[in-house]
Amino acid sequence: MLIETLRKNHDLTDEEFCTLLETDRYDEELKAAADAVRREYYGTDVYLRGLIEFTNYCKNDCLYCGIRRSNQNVERYRLTEGEIFACCEEGYALGYRTFVLQGGEDPYFTDERICAIVSEIHTRYPDCAITLSIGEKSRESYQAYFDAGAARYLLRHETADPAHYAMLHPTEMSCENRKRCLYDLKAIGYQVGAGLMVGSPYQTTQNLVTDIRFMQELKPDMIGIGPFLSHKDTPFRDKPNGKLQLVLRLLGILRLVFPYVLLPSTTALGTVHPLGREFGLQWGANVVMPNLSPTAVRENYMLYDNKICTGDESAQCRGCLERRVSSVGYQIVTDRGDVKK
Ligand code: 5AD
Ligand code: FES
Repeated sequence: MLIETLRKNHDLTDEEFCTLLETDRYDEELKAAADAVRREYYGTDVYLRGLIEFTNYCKNDCLYCGIRRSNQNVERYRLTEGEIFACCEEGYALGYRTFVLQGGEDPYFTDERICAIVSEIHTRYPDCAITLSIGEKSRESYQAYFDAGAARYLLRHETADPAHYAMLHPTEMSCENRKRCLYDLKAIGYQVGAGLMVGSPYQTTQNLVTDIRFMQELKPDMIGIGPFLSHKDTPFRDKPNGKLQLVLRLLGILRLVFPYVLLPSTTALGTVHPLGREFGLQWGANVVMPNLSPTAVRENYMLYDNKICTGDESAQCRGCLERRVSSVGYQIVTDRGDVKK
């Protein structure tokens, strides 16, 4: 009954959402409904996003993140423009039609440099969507990147509850500014991705409901979720990892609340369980984001411990994912993968 209501109304009461999140009673029904709705909107198509982790320098100090500025044990790197373009060239040949430039908040990459890179990629690959994931900026900066040719922006809100936000971030960061960024991005005309870590320290079920409520207001085009995973060189080194089943349940719920949304089956999900990404696809996810970064730098972009796709074996993530996706009955398509609203 609960699942039918959610599927029909795309909404439940706070109490009902809590029940769904906290018990395994509805899991089978939720998974089946989420898969049915993803097939209604997207068939069995899975979209590819080629992830280019172009800098691991970061001026921020988020308590959960392995590349936070206080971590002295990271070997810092920046890709040159030439290296970034080479990633795109390789990706294009492999069928990628979306490139995600992701990095820490690195002051070296001024707006001028970002715009130059974006417009060069835009000129070389006019049929590709350029996505940025470079953190909190001013509205003017976001506008400049957009004018240079960036069409999408990923900025997970991390948690929509200000008190919880303050437990995960240093005092100079705020939930309010994070949300301001997301609304600015929307107003400019970006396709926007929000998202959060499931099972982050101090997170309650009510926090997850608050996240759903925030996203109902924001109406993001994409929602990135994965389990929180501890990193040995952060203040959260002893915190427990997020649970696979809770991530899957939330994926299923999100597919029913936002039927049209682009939902990645994330690397963190594949890290918490060897078949995590396959399970994610079966619970409503329809996007995978293989790593396109040069293998030599991948081990330095460790947001959490034991991240997959960082060793030599990962040179061919594309082929690996192809097999994984088809093993559960879906298929990767060569497409920009725009949101279907
Ligand atoms: N565990 C899981 N996800 C993490 N991220 C950062 N650190 C961790 C961690 N320790 C996620 C954040 C960020 C995205 C790029 O990676 O949600 O927005
Ligand atoms: Fe990267 Fe399998 S997807 S190695």
